[in-house]
Amino acid sequence: MAYSDKVIDHYENPRNVGSFAKSDEDVGTGMVGAPACGDVMKLQIKVNPETGRIEDAKFKTYGCGSAIASSSLVTEWVKGKSLDEALTIKNTQIAEELALPPVKIHCSILAEDAIKAAVDDYKARHPSKAEA
Ligand code: FES
Ligand code: FES
Repeated sequence: MAYSDKVIDHYENPRNVGSFAKSDEDVGTGMVGAPACGDVMKLQIKVNPETGRIEDAKFKTYGCGSAIASSSLVTEWVKGKSLDEALTIKNTQIAEELALPPVKIHCSILAEDAIKAAVDDYKARHPSKAEA
């Protein structure tokens, strides 16, 4: 199976690899695994407490090229978004942008799930803001 140019680009030059300290109160952490292949993705968002917007994101993915490319892409996409806007990112948009073949769709689902988990974690740590 051939990877698309965009997958190869994100795979060879992944954006935003790394992690924030979990103790940072402005950080939300999502850790998800893909039952289909055992790959694991950790994705973190850093929220600006003044604006409520995501100002930075980082990821670490132990997985295939498509999973790495999907997580790299979504760390770019979430920057500048509100938490609720970040929740609207769909795996189908990721799969389309990266031209993922059907057998790699679950890799993009992993990235969508990781974003949702990171937002949920942030909201759980900031109950008052989750209601606002
Ligand atoms: Fe997940 Fe390839 S099957 S890394
Ligand atoms: Fe499983 Fe890509 S093959 S995440």
